[in-house]
Amino acid sequence: MYKVDLKIQKKTNIQSNSLSLLFLHLQRAQKPKKNLNDKLLSFAAYFYLMSQVKKQLNIQRHDSSADQSLRPHTAADKYLLSEFEELGKSPEQIAIYHDRFGFLSCSLHTQHSVFVFNQKSQLNALERNSELNKLTPPTYSDPISALETKLDLALMKIPKSLALFRLYLEHITHNSTDNCVVLASFMTRHFTPKILEIAEEYFEEVTQSRAVKKSRVLTMKGKKKLEQQNCIDTLEYKSKTYQQYWGVFSAKHIDYATQYFLEHIDLKSSDKLILDLASGNGVIGSEISQKLSNASIHLMDDSYLAMASAKLNISGENIHHHFNHSLDGFDSESFDLIATNPPFHFEYEINIQIPIGLFKACFRCLKPSGNLQLVANKHLNYKTHLNDIFTKVEVLAENDSFTVYKCSKLN
Ligand SMILES: C[S@@+](CC[C@H](N)C(=O)[O-])C[C@H]1O[C@@H](n2cnc3c(N)ncnc32)[C@H](O)[C@@H]1O
Repeated sequence: MYKVDLKIQKKTNIQSNSLSLLFLHLQRAQKPKKNLNDKLLSFAAYFYLMSQVKKQLNIQRHDSSADQSLRPHTAADKYLLSEFEELGKSPEQIAIYHDRFGFLSCSLHTQHSVFVFNQKSQLNALERNSELNKLTPPTYSDPISALETKLDLALMKIPKSLALFRLYLEHITHNSTDNCVVLASFMTRHFTPKILEIAEEYFEEVTQSRAVKKSRVLTMKGKKKLEQQNCIDTLEYKSKTYQQYWGVFSAKHIDYATQYFLEHIDLKSSDKLILDLASGNGVIGSEISQKLSNASIHLMDDSYLAMASAKLNISGENIHHHFNHSLDGFDSESFDLIATNPPFHFEYEINIQIPIGLFKACFRCLKPSGNLQLVANKHLNYKTHLNDIFTKVEVLAENDSFTVYKCSKLN
């Protein structure tokens, strides 16, 4: 266990009642002549206190993963906390970026910090882990809005998407004091020289720590004076220009699986209420709305930046955007059609339990006459899982890479 664990736990777990017990323990320990009662009370106080200090934070993943090997934090998170301790000073305002299940934020809950989220599932995990550990959650911000207070320190788990890393650095440099320091950690197997290149675009001084438990921490200091960018890329598809924030799925062109899906999707004029699930920049919803102009289209994505991008690409009276990671907010038997290119990559993990959970929720939200249509990489082999959920599963199209399925609620 790292030194930081104990220190952080001291900070995070000593409640006021244990402090008063410590006081009692120290008082009694100083008495020259202790009676048996004093000694017992002193020991009880000491053991209670130590049990509080040693208590680990209980951080859960809070996603639909049954795979026990998928841990809610890594050596890179712990190394980041220990480098924070090494700074030896308590900054006025800290921001924590890309803390997937709230481990960093819960560990630093005594500091004045702001949790900069991109995903709704991150927010949800932080709230649930704060509740589990009886901590008050920090304040929140999305990664494109201006922060109320300028930062002196930013802590970050470097995301897999380096475009998102760049967007985070853009946010930090335009919301911080001149002396702001950034500590950003990663597992060494995920290192690419591009990480240093991007860091050096924003900071004069970029240093890399030695490796500890196969993880490293980058320290960035001396921010460069740069013009603020809008962090938006553009891409063309069928004579329409789509905009998307850095870090949103498929930045260079519309994803090939999505293109294949749009060529084979089975749309009916009776499809009046439609959900574009995991909508990304909204291309599927937008293409459907051009063909079924009277339909009401709902778009939902776990990513704040995806939803902000979709708002740039598709809007109107019949269009509804939902920043969410579950269909719990939708009534049962609502939709005629749910269309999706579902997620299965979550940072460096492949986890099909999440899309399967979403397919089950789709079944609940479809009208009896409704259907789910999806595209998937062929190797994922969703057919068996879809057959377990839906009454009828048809293959609408298939090539060497992708399969398009149509899953009907009833026959
Ligand atoms: C394969 S991409 C598809 C994006 C877009 N539909 C397209 O075709 O370009 C999957 C999307 O799922 C989103 N996502 C991941 N988990 C999700 C969840 N639980 N609920 C909704 N969206 C999710 C990701 O943010 C990502 O935008």
